[in-house]
Amino acid sequence: MERKDKEIEEIKKFRKKFYDDHANDYDNEWWNDENALEEFKGFKKFVKVKPGDMVLDIATGTGTFLIEMAKAGAICYGIDQSPKMLEKLRFKVKQERMEKNVEKISVGTAEKLPYTDGILNWVVCIGMLEYYPLEYAKAVLLEIIRVLKPEGHCFIDIPNPNNSYARERDWIYSYNLEEFEKMIKSLELKISARNNAGYMFQYLLFKP
Ligand SMILES: C[S@@+](CC[C@H](N)C(=O)[O-])C[C@H]1O[C@@H](n2cnc3c(N)ncnc32)[C@H](O)[C@@H]1O
Repeated sequence: MERKDKEIEEIKKFRKKFYDDHANDYDNEWWNDENALEEFKGFKKFVKVKPGDMVLDIATGTGTFLIEMAKAGAICYGIDQSPKMLEKLRFKVKQERMEKNVEKISVGTAEKLPYTDGILNWVVCIGMLEYYPLEYAKAVLLEIIRVLKPEGHCFIDIPNPNNSYARERDWIYSYNLEEFEKMIKSLELKISARNNAGYMFQYLLFKP
């Protein structure tokens, strides 16, 4: 195994345990912060799913964004490697009576999506890429391109290099924006919008 592959496998393993252990507190700890609200605002501004759209939330976790898309009438798929986070999501889907809009929630990893080619109108991946080196982000984007329909949209985020707290967190990858965008442009994706959102920097992408 290449050194990078080994490093990525180790990060996945560490994060799986981390989120399994923190699933009970995640919503209270993370989503009660004004920087997190900026992220939520950015999501609402850019992710305009329509009723009947087929959408996927990668690293869906407890499903904060998946539930929003289900409420907008989309047919939702969610994937995450932490079964405990997904237990919370399943509970919320029932609580919000969103079962008919949530097609499937799967345990799995972002670089190997269990969906056929070209079926999705939207893919979002929020709060995950920051744990991984650029090589992994590229592998995930290639999978996103594969499952998106032509003219499909994608919404992702990375740590905000304009935010001092985000820059100083030493357990995440603080991507160089120029390098990150060069990687995106080398793929079959166009950058439709960029947004400063608290700790995170958000991208709306389009598959021509
Ligand atoms: C910060 S949480 C974000 C959850 C949700 N997207 C949100 O914004 O509330 C990170 C999530 O990424 C998941 N995750 C980490 N690495 C992953 C990978 N390689 N594939 C799939 N899920 C992953 C974790 O299990 C966790 O649920």
